[in-house]
Amino acid sequence: MPHFFEKYTMDIILGIETSCDETAASVVIDGCEVRSSVVSSQIAKHALYGGVVPEIAAREHLTAIEYVVKTALKTADISIMDVAAIGVTNGPGLIPSLLIGVNFAKGLSAGHNIPLVGINHFIAHIYGCFLENGIEKLAMPETFPILALVVSGGHTALVLITDDGNARIVGTTLDDAAGEAFDKAAKLLHLGYPGGPVIEKTAKNGNPAKFAFPRSLTGTSGKALNEKDRFNFSFSGVKTSLYYHCIKLGGGENMTGEILCDSVASYQEAIVDVLVRKTVEAAEYFSASTVVLCGGVACNGALRERMKKSLPGRRHLVIAHPKYCTDNAAMIAGLAWYDFKAKQFDNTDLDAYSRMPELTKVAFVGNKKLVPR
Ligand code: KG4
Ligand code: ZN
Repeated sequence: MPHFFEKYTMDIILGIETSCDETAASVVIDGCEVRSSVVSSQIAKHALYGGVVPEIAAREHLTAIEYVVKTALKTADISIMDVAAIGVTNGPGLIPSLLIGVNFAKGLSAGHNIPLVGINHFIAHIYGCFLENGIEKLAMPETFPILALVVSGGHTALVLITDDGNARIVGTTLDDAAGEAFDKAAKLLHLGYPGGPVIEKTAKNGNPAKFAFPRSLTGTSGKALNEKDRFNFSFSGVKTSLYYHCIKLGGGENMTGEILCDSVASYQEAIVDVLVRKTVEAAEYFSASTVVLCGGVACNGALRERMKKSLPGRRHLVIAHPKYCTDNAAMIAGLAWYDFKAKQFDNTDLDAYSRMPELTKVAFVGNKKLVPR
């Protein structure tokens, strides 16, 4: 039987992701062809605490990483000797978690003499949107400018990317991320962890117009909106509002049936409304040709549907495939290909960072020579 990869001119990249509570590894060819994507979730370990406990996360990564990487290689039918480069998330994220992936990748890199590149998790979420989802669009001038809404447990930001690869954050959350607002709400209502999926499920049986939750920084409260916050977000107010709503109704733990479903549906509605409203307004303001929706919260059906309905037809919408919304290593391996091609290696100098430097460029746009097949 011929080897799975007959042409060794193809660049085989191994991606490793351990920034939060998912241990993931993936094999991606030439930045676009996903041959394997293995994700081992730690949800059950953290559910008990209603959120991610960094020390537990690191220990779980340590237990899982070797098996996850081996499985990714095996599923792609390759050995570590076939790998041209390793890409590993080195920030932003939880330091104890990041260190497991970074050090494991360093060991593989040094032991097998394979170049190693550090990958920005936030940028990878945007790149992941295009995986198995029209990656050729990144080579088309008419795709730009791109406005990306990155909405996850750790981030809620609007990023503008132009066809020369320049990128900047035009709006960000001033406090909680939207995913965090879902997770905290689920904890308050004793619905389990992570909050997003269970909130979405519960909201399906409720009336989203039943209760009015605040839409911070949208100017809808009657309070004038400061121009600098036009595209910024804030979700701490809606969370506090849910807290008092629960107290009024006898405590989150006691809420059941229709009242629970209506409360959750109205809460989700407030968050989705703000996300879509701000994104549509920013897309108009910056004349974005393409709007990109990515990150764990982009799994949310209500958000996906509302964005489709609200975005004017002349703006193209690219929504990440659900398997590439939440944390995965395919987005890391895919993005690492660009650094590999540019010979931007970090090798043993690589460090882990909870925050990354200000975003100014993305490697996957603007280099005419680097267009995925
Ligand atoms: O991208 P991700 O896996 O990790 C971070 O980089 O943060 O996102 C995880 C977040 C969690 O807050 C989770 O509650 C949220 O994504 N999430 C959802 C849904 N699925 C996951 N939020 C709303 N609706 C969902 N269906
Ligand atoms: Zn993420």
